[in-house]
Amino acid sequence: MIRDMVQETQVTASNLIFPLFIVEGNNQKTEVSSMPGIYRFSIDNLLREVEECLSLGLRAFDLFPNIDESLKDRFATESYREGNLYLRAIEAVKSRFPEACVITDVAMDPYSSDGHDGLVENGEILNDETLEILGKMALAHARAGADIIAPSDMMDGRIGYIRQLLDDEGFTNVSLMSYTAKYASAFYGPFRDALDSAPKHGDKKTYQMNPANQREALIEAELDVQEGADFLMVKPGLPYLDVIKLLHDQFDLPIAAYNVSGEYAMLKAAAQRGWLDEQRSTMEVLTSLRRAGATAILTYHAKEVLEKKWL
Ligand code: PBG
Repeated sequence: MIRDMVQETQVTASNLIFPLFIVEGNNQKTEVSSMPGIYRFSIDNLLREVEECLSLGLRAFDLFPNIDESLKDRFATESYREGNLYLRAIEAVKSRFPEACVITDVAMDPYSSDGHDGLVENGEILNDETLEILGKMALAHARAGADIIAPSDMMDGRIGYIRQLLDDEGFTNVSLMSYTAKYASAFYGPFRDALDSAPKHGDKKTYQMNPANQREALIEAELDVQEGADFLMVKPGLPYLDVIKLLHDQFDLPIAAYNVSGEYAMLKAAAQRGWLDEQRSTMEVLTSLRRAGATAILTYHAKEVLEKKWL
């Protein structure tokens, strides 16, 4: 009892955000091979999944689309086309479950024939030209009913640009969760399998941060605060606890941590082999992210920890 009374950190259902992968079609539910227990859902099954999660007390969802290769182009035009898979999914979830908090991802990679988050020309990313595309995408998400828009692209100036557009169109209540300190990490591999979104050439090191840098996160955070972000995100989570702590101590905005696909895959693989105690290691990871200062945790473990009553 006293041990519980003096426990400093808790993980609750309201701290968790569940990333969900969506795919075109009917009655689809295909497991991502490098992420046991995680599926790509067609919209009908997505609604069933959201309903189950809501009944477990899990209320926040971050959606990511797997887009057919034939719909991808250099300019990611599919990303804001009226009636596309992603916009239909947002609308379906929000109309059926208005109480669900829908977080949407803004970046070009799921729709880009180059597999990059920004527009590529002669092997280089065009930052400012990308902002226009991201702006159209963000507005389309807001119109479809997104509660929080989360730009994951790491272009400079996109938070201010998107905030302005949203405000001009009357979407002052839509929040921005900025991927503030997003590192060029090896831990995104399974996510790129899930979406078939790996870069076709080059890497993301010109726009994502160098894993060796901590202080640079302060610069990114400063800009996001000035530009109007409502949340600052650090990604990945566990290898960057110092960065979570740093931003938590220096800024008053809520901090989100993304416990990414590779962190999930690593833990699942070890647990399946019996090399780790799954319940204890999962809870230790989530508790550590909270202890470091994250208010919200995006995690593929979200549904499972509630289903199994590990919290
Ligand atoms: C890309 C994006 C990535 C993730 C979320 N948004 C991967 C990347 O930058 O290549 C990774 C999430 C995860 O690994 O779980 N916009």
